[in-house]
Amino acid sequence: MILDTFPSAEEFYKTYWGQKPFVVRSAIDQALFEGMIDGDSLAGLALEEEIKSRIVITAPEGGKWTCEHGPFEEDRFGTLGEENWSLLVQNVEQYHTDTAKLLQNFHFAPRWLMDDIMVSYSTVGGSVGPHTDSYHVFLVQGMGRRKWTIGQSPVQNEDYIEGLDLKVFKGSVSGVEIEVGIGDVIYIPPHFAHEGITTQEAMTFSVGFLGPKLSELMAQYGYYLEQMDQGNKHYAGAGLDVESAGFAISPGAQERIQNDLINALCSDDFSIWLAAYFSMPSHDDVENIEARDEKLSNQDLLERLQDGQNLYRPEHIKLSMTISPDGTVNLAAYGAALPTSPAHNKFLHWLNQNNTLSMQDIEALGDQDALMTFITYLYNQNILFFENEALDL
Ligand code: SIN
Ligand code: CO
Repeated sequence: MILDTFPSAEEFYKTYWGQKPFVVRSAIDQALFEGMIDGDSLAGLALEEEIKSRIVITAPEGGKWTCEHGPFEEDRFGTLGEENWSLLVQNVEQYHTDTAKLLQNFHFAPRWLMDDIMVSYSTVGGSVGPHTDSYHVFLVQGMGRRKWTIGQSPVQNEDYIEGLDLKVFKGSVSGVEIEVGIGDVIYIPPHFAHEGITTQEAMTFSVGFLGPKLSELMAQYGYYLEQMDQGNKHYAGAGLDVESAGFAISPGAQERIQNDLINALCSDDFSIWLAAYFSMPSHDDVENIEARDEKLSNQDLLERLQDGQNLYRPEHIKLSMTISPDGTVNLAAYGAALPTSPAHNKFLHWLNQNNTLSMQDIEALGDQDALMTFITYLYNQNILFFENEALDL
């Protein structure tokens, strides 16, 4: 279970994803943590109305667990004492964009399924108790140290303490025990029990992946079809026969309705919608990106690139790509489809795994004029930025 480095993408999906936990020692360069959010700034986020936060007070020696939900008053933090509590804040990558830089290490993971980065600050003894999550999670340890116990198979019967606003198992977790420090990363598949207890004041960054429910996908695609209108015809009962008289829907009629639905799902529209859907912010209150007020021209961009300035794609920007049945790569950001053409395919595959773009990269990625028009568009849409440029969001 202890690995020297992250598994290759092939090995990750074959052996670990959804199946087996692992720990990688020193997986993340320590220098990266200098730009990550610290405890004080995390407490600052927890004062905000629209940001989801919790304070969990642990129950040493069989006492009672408590979970309070934010927003908090500033003076709440002064009354918590030195030990046995943690503060957890959701969607931190959207509010503290440097924290999103952590995601550079997770190109092998399905980033389109990523929900958020939840950050916890915990004092000695701090814990959210033994539990499972319905999502996949990479627990990235920042400063401090924590002792984890990690179950080695999914929990069949989740038996939680009743009457708590927090899912804490009645019993303890049995599994592998491991203490982690800065840069160590633990992967936990859904429904695997885990419990972390802080041994030295700690920051933990939980990179979580959770897919939508089938009902949510169906409802959202239906809503999209309704808005598109084209192809959204009434079912008119074509081909009905005597078996469908009265209140009976014949097997043939049922099959034709199913085929109508399948055809709607196998269309180019579906591929375009799917990219847009998975690029939506996972949290309603996160603002969509807007185009820049001051737009640059292809020529302006080209000159700056030729001058040696590089462009980069900030990691907190949610992108998603699908490939239509005709091979077109569809790109979407923050719930909106972006206009692509087959001339951009090579660049888009490259963008999927890279986030810094130089003039040399552009020259190697296809027809320069077509690419510069598209890259300028992405820049003007606030999806690409020049290095050292403040994020204008
Ligand atoms: C934490 O950081 O304490 C919670 C992470 C988890 O167990 O999911
Ligand atoms: Co958990």
